[in-house]
Amino acid sequence: MSVHIGSQILDYRPYEKMLKVIDKLIKKIQFKFDYIDLGGGMGISYQNDRKKLNYKKYNKAIKKFLKKHKSKIIFEPGRSIIGNAGILVSKVIYIKESVKKNFVILDAAMNDLIRPALYGAEHRIIPLIKRKKKSNRIYDFVGPICETTDKFLSSKNFQKLNEKDLVIICDVGAYGSSLGSNYNIRPKPAEILVKGSKVIVVKKKQKLKDLI
Ligand SMILES: Cc1ncc(COP(=O)(O)O)c(C=O)c1O
Repeated sequence: MSVHIGSQILDYRPYEKMLKVIDKLIKKIQFKFDYIDLGGGMGISYQNDRKKLNYKKYNKAIKKFLKKHKSKIIFEPGRSIIGNAGILVSKVIYIKESVKKNFVILDAAMNDLIRPALYGAEHRIIPLIKRKKKSNRIYDFVGPICETTDKFLSSKNFQKLNEKDLVIICDVGAYGSSLGSNYNIRPKPAEILVKGSKVIVVKKKQKLKDLI
């Protein structure tokens, strides 16, 4: 038996409910499953605000369940394993300031990270090199694609940025490059694996000629 109740879950109670539903179902059908796959969905803290799933409570609910049903439990964790292991490094290509709106235009775009455009997800953006001087303007960090959805984040009190500065879009290890596309015939960036002091290019940067 396999279930997967959703993603980015930070409350243990839906998992408690899920186990109750499975318990009811098994009682009804009177079948002993060798394996029960509880899926993934365990959420991570995208805002660095210490919000996290109470794994102890989830564990307690599973133990209670296992007292009644002697099956092997399987999980399918995705984001909780890899989410915070990936970053997207992007260069500031232009800073556009006006009376009403200010934009930091990056060379990364919604095709590289679709989560903000797709469902309003917010990924923290931090500078690669820290400087003390801050700006009190609100900046929209956007990509260069001509779409209103090509926006990553609005941010206040970000440090003063210049063109060619590098910024880091955090926590893109899950549903980042795996959901990336060549939208607008944009070549995908290189993917680099850092293991200890080793740096390995696992995917080469695409060239425009690869796509046409
Ligand atoms: C069936 C199934 N299992 C596991 C996962 C992984 O989910 P998560 O990354 O939220 O742990 C997904 C994600 O969509 C899924 O559809």
